[in-house]
Amino acid sequence: VTIIDIDREPGLLRTRWSDGRTARFHHVWLRDNCWCTACRHPSIHERTLDTLAVSLDIQPAAASVDGGLLRIEWPDGHRSEYSGEWLEEHAYEPGFARPRPADRTPWRSTDLEPPPEVGYGEIVAGDEGLLRWLRQLREFGVSFVRGAPTEPGTVTALAERIAFLRNSNFGLLWDVVSKPVADSLAYTSVPLTPHTDLVSRSTQPGLQFLHCLVFEAVGGDSTLVDGMACAEELGRRDPAAFEVLTTTPVPYRYRSPDCDVTATSPMIRLDHRGELDEIRYSNALLAPLWCDPDRMPELYRAMHAFVSLLRSPEFTLRFRLRPGDVMCFDNHRVLHGRDAFDPQSGPRHLQGCYVDRDDFLSRLRLLESARPVPSPA
Ligand code: OGA
Ligand code: ZN
Ligand code: ZN
Repeated sequence: VTIIDIDREPGLLRTRWSDGRTARFHHVWLRDNCWCTACRHPSIHERTLDTLAVSLDIQPAAASVDGGLLRIEWPDGHRSEYSGEWLEEHAYEPGFARPRPADRTPWRSTDLEPPPEVGYGEIVAGDEGLLRWLRQLREFGVSFVRGAPTEPGTVTALAERIAFLRNSNFGLLWDVVSKPVADSLAYTSVPLTPHTDLVSRSTQPGLQFLHCLVFEAVGGDSTLVDGMACAEELGRRDPAAFEVLTTTPVPYRYRSPDCDVTATSPMIRLDHRGELDEIRYSNALLAPLWCDPDRMPELYRAMHAFVSLLRSPEFTLRFRLRPGDVMCFDNHRVLHGRDAFDPQSGPRHLQGCYVDRDDFLSRLRLLESARPVPSPA
């Protein structure tokens, strides 16, 4: 698609395109989006042009399309150029809205036979293996790394292939073992129903890694469930419950001798397009629910409906970790859990760490685009 011409209208230019569509661009928007070296720092890619320096009723002195390029001269003599490609990408006309790439595939347990996996060696060897791993994580919210060394600390080096780690009161690298004095249910041998981690912090970690070092104990099998698939199923089966869980903030709190954190967010959070943004749920860290008294029974009913789906065998991937496995998952989408185990029957030792969502997506963008930051001309 190429830009072929423009029509001047009050306050804006209407661009005409080779496929017959038109898109409006306001004069103030165009001036504000000049990417010349006077308006943007040439290597830092940040704006040096101040929005307040652009008059709201600015008008081009001249505007023309030529060779697929829109050229504008402003009253003060400043010249701007915009490529058709850049204008198409940033057009805000509804007919130009880019369909979001279907980059997530919701799953039920039988869809992941076998589950997505990559070899540890592939990820360490180069960026191809790393990219394959990150694409699996983006699409399914889960990927298993197989054949990792069982040296303590291996998981941090693996996660650092993506980005720096997310810290918390549990530290950058934490040991999941049954401890006599524990500051989390995870560090006991009790069962953990499907949950996301660090629900009581305003930002949940994006990616979570659990590396199995030793596993001789009886019990302790793992579970993973796609919260996105369950949320979609809830929306189909029980739209009223879906409405409640996407609009009612739910409080969580974690307390230990050295930490007291709380956060409140809907169990199913949608983005501004109405697509799933984040699941946040942990039975263990739920604080007393607080809402309009008339709506409390509905909230409990909706929570039961959703949590029943999260625990249903139809959606639950069950497996037993083996030493050298690293289960990796999107902690904004996929919930994890484990069965109780008998600590007397043998050792069980996992190590875990986190990477934030921004840094996961940043690494993916960098690996996927050989292009530098796109410029308009
Ligand atoms: C955790 C956790 C699961 C397990 O540490 O966050 O949920 O298998 N552990 O022990
Ligand atoms: Zn400029
Ligand atoms: Zn957990």
